[in-house]
Amino acid sequence: MLLKKLGQSGIEISAIGQGTGIHHSLTNREVYRELESTIRSGIDMGITLIDTAPVYGDGASEAIIGKALKGIRHGVVLATKVSPENLSPAGIKNSVEGSLRRLQTDRIDLLQVHWPNPQIPISDTLLGLKDMVQDGLVRYVGICNFSFKDTQEIHQQLTSKFLASVQVEYNLFDRSIEREFLPYGQQEGITIIAYSPLHRGRIVANRKQYAVLQEIANTYHKTPAQIVLRWLTVHLPVVVIPNTTNGQRMKENAESIDFDLIDEDVRYLEAQCTGHFREISPRSIHVADDSGRSVYRTLEEALGNAMNCVPSPQELAEQIATGDFLKPVRLRPVQSSHDRFELLEGRIRYWAWVIAHGFEKPLPALIEDFS
Ligand SMILES: NC(=O)c1ccc[n+]([C@@H]2O[C@H](COP(=O)([O-])OP(=O)(O)OC[C@H]3O[C@@H](n4cnc5c(N)ncnc54)[C@H](OP(=O)(O)O)[C@@H]3O)[C@@H](O)[C@H]2O)c1
Repeated sequence: MLLKKLGQSGIEISAIGQGTGIHHSLTNREVYRELESTIRSGIDMGITLIDTAPVYGDGASEAIIGKALKGIRHGVVLATKVSPENLSPAGIKNSVEGSLRRLQTDRIDLLQVHWPNPQIPISDTLLGLKDMVQDGLVRYVGICNFSFKDTQEIHQQLTSKFLASVQVEYNLFDRSIEREFLPYGQQEGITIIAYSPLHRGRIVANRKQYAVLQEIANTYHKTPAQIVLRWLTVHLPVVVIPNTTNGQRMKENAESIDFDLIDEDVRYLEAQCTGHFREISPRSIHVADDSGRSVYRTLEEALGNAMNCVPSPQELAEQIATGDFLKPVRLRPVQSSHDRFELLEGRIRYWAWVIAHGFEKPLPALIEDFS
């Protein structure tokens, strides 16, 4: 397994990690036992960085990992998170204590802020995080889903003594982090933990791109997923955390770093298989609700924020209005139409954009189409 440094710490992490996000709907004990054994098999294959969060399966992910790690905890680098509603110093402490209990350990290697919360002063959060390190409950700190501007400010305050990683979405489809986060991570010695590295299993934007990727994969006797994971981990500060519930795919992912991609193929891959930004009028976008996740259907609902989303659409709009935009929304054409789209991801970002700029200003989007 290829090992990389976690930030500027002396800790080594596997370039391929295990993502362990699970759905709230997973209640079957049998499935939990299978997950436990899949996690252990990943560790046996050298995938020793494990990423979880209290919110995954409402604590179930951490609890399964805790069981899976019995007797082998010392060989693993354990990364968990703290949810936005718990970012006060007392909230962080409570959250860490809960994680330690479920994970059945006495120390978290990497504690990451899961999402920003504009309602809690960031200075309070940073104090709370430092306390956890100074109390010996946490070794290093990371942040997820902050804008680049906020990331720089947090890094300045925490310094590399505390801040080891930034977790952001990075895959072949969405390469937005290459502009700022990636060079910054490289220059400052901050690990970039790439989440959704396989674009949530869709890997690319459409069937044509998949065919090109398959053609490249064939020349290496590898699979499309392996080519993408290898391509991501070629970038020095990047480690990936693909999620799988399948032992065979765990093996496939573990074996994605035992070969080199030649430069010519990297250039071909990037030219042919990358998602492209488009600016789409908010009026052309239908806010769909077919994923089982609740959405706001009207501007009034979004402004009311009855679901208590953190950050709220209004809070995110204030950030967007300053030009600080997090990442593009994901769209799918409605029945192969070229001018009507369904919103796949970015339910809060969509409404935040509309609050900030109205329905007329086009918003940055990435479009996938497997029809
Ligand atoms: N910080 C954050 O806000 C944040 C947000 C999202 C995710 N994450 C973290 O990132 C992890 C991964 O992200 P993700 O689950 O969104 O996306 P992902 O890892 O890109 O995709 C997971 C999907 O890919 C499939 N898959 C896994 N290995 C494969 C392979 N070799 N070939 C083909 N398909 C494969 C899995 O299906 P099978 O299970 O059937 O194999 C699953 O459907 C999460 O578990 C979580 O730890 C963090």
